[in-house]
Amino acid sequence: MTIPPPTPSDASRHEGTSDSAGAQAPAADTGERPEPAAVLSFYDEIGGHETFVRLVEAFYRGVADDEVLRPMYPEEDLGPAKERLTLFLEQYWGGPTTYSRQRGHPRLRMRHAAFHVDPEARDRWLAHMRVAVDELQLPALHEVTLWDYLQRAAFAMVNTFEPSGIGPSAGTRAAGGLPVTAAPPAAASPPAAPPADPARGTAR
Ligand code: HEM
Repeated sequence: MTIPPPTPSDASRHEGTSDSAGAQAPAADTGERPEPAAVLSFYDEIGGHETFVRLVEAFYRGVADDEVLRPMYPEEDLGPAKERLTLFLEQYWGGPTTYSRQRGHPRLRMRHAAFHVDPEARDRWLAHMRVAVDELQLPALHEVTLWDYLQRAAFAMVNTFEPSGIGPSAGTRAAGGLPVTAAPPAAASPPAAPPADPARGTAR
């Protein structure tokens, strides 16, 4: 069996060495090899900055009118919050790392600790995000990848199952939930006397 001669790119791999591979390469070989195909990040694949801006703009249009979510946002102007979410998502998906340079480590659960993220808030957040993702009209595989992540992230952000907090009181929400407030303790009546201790024969 004969061993085939090295291809030009094999030869260039040995560049700078004194083996005979170079001598067998075609005369026209300049020793250059093609750039490896650039690996596109998910960020690039779905359209880069412009796509993330569209996603977050559409999402915040929903938040702006949401009676539970909107009051949670500390600033009157949603612009800075939009910017933070855009930068975070861009970084997460392989785009520029501006978020961490400006804000440090994301620590998202910690950053959400101050907010009342209960299942209702999560579901509202996801509902607005669903509308926003649909608006992007991504190819199916990209869409499902993005949506799967957003769902998992939103479920991970829930930090309370209590019904109260920032936002309208539980009374204004859709009926049908289980009562979650414990009944108040019975009116102050003296504690029942302990039963007589049969071992001692006296009631203490
Ligand atoms: C589950 C429901 C969620 C609620 C109710 C919620 C609510 C909030 C609120 C009120 C803020 C403060 C606004 C600001 O100052 O930026 C915030 C910040 C932020 N949220 Fe959420 N969020 C939720 C889920 C998520 C998820 C799933 C992500 C990521 C995929 C996320 C990413 C962020 C980021 C990056 C910030 C800015 C953090 C910072 O740098 O200060 N949030 N969120």
